[in-house]
Amino acid sequence: MIPIHVLNGPNLNLLGRREPGIYGTATLAAIECDLRVQAEALDVALTFRQTNHEGELVGFVQEAGLAGAGILINAAAYTHTSVALRDAISGSGALAVEVHLSNVHAREAFRHVSLIAPVCAGVISGFGPRSYRLGLDALAHLMASRTPISASED
Ligand code: DQA
Repeated sequence: MIPIHVLNGPNLNLLGRREPGIYGTATLAAIECDLRVQAEALDVALTFRQTNHEGELVGFVQEAGLAGAGILINAAAYTHTSVALRDAISGSGALAVEVHLSNVHAREAFRHVSLIAPVCAGVISGFGPRSYRLGLDALAHLMASRTPISASED
């Protein structure tokens, strides 16, 4: 099975009642449920987490990256501010895909900058909960196509 950790940053626990005109009405629990069905079809072992704390998110990234798991990350506001998060992704060698529910490029200028995008394989933004589904599909395929290191190559 392909190990993938879906990591969610601050305020995403409020999905469903948080600015529904921007983020829609799906709760984070509903997004998780949906991804679990998709994960089964993709042969993905899914870990799903959320935190409002930057350091905890850094810890989640390190844990996933060092375990060789792929990371699907909606870092929420930390996307735009966190050097620590970017360093955790690059430092742990994680294969990561960045996702956002809203189209961050159609919003305020401060959301146009992502500090983590340069260390991610790709970014999906603007498709609501489908951003997660598209991201999981892309990441699972990337993980599956990673060339396994053969035992004779050392
Ligand atoms: C978000 C976009 C961020 O700019 C914002 O801070 C969020 C959610 C999104 O999923 O659209 O909290 O990551």
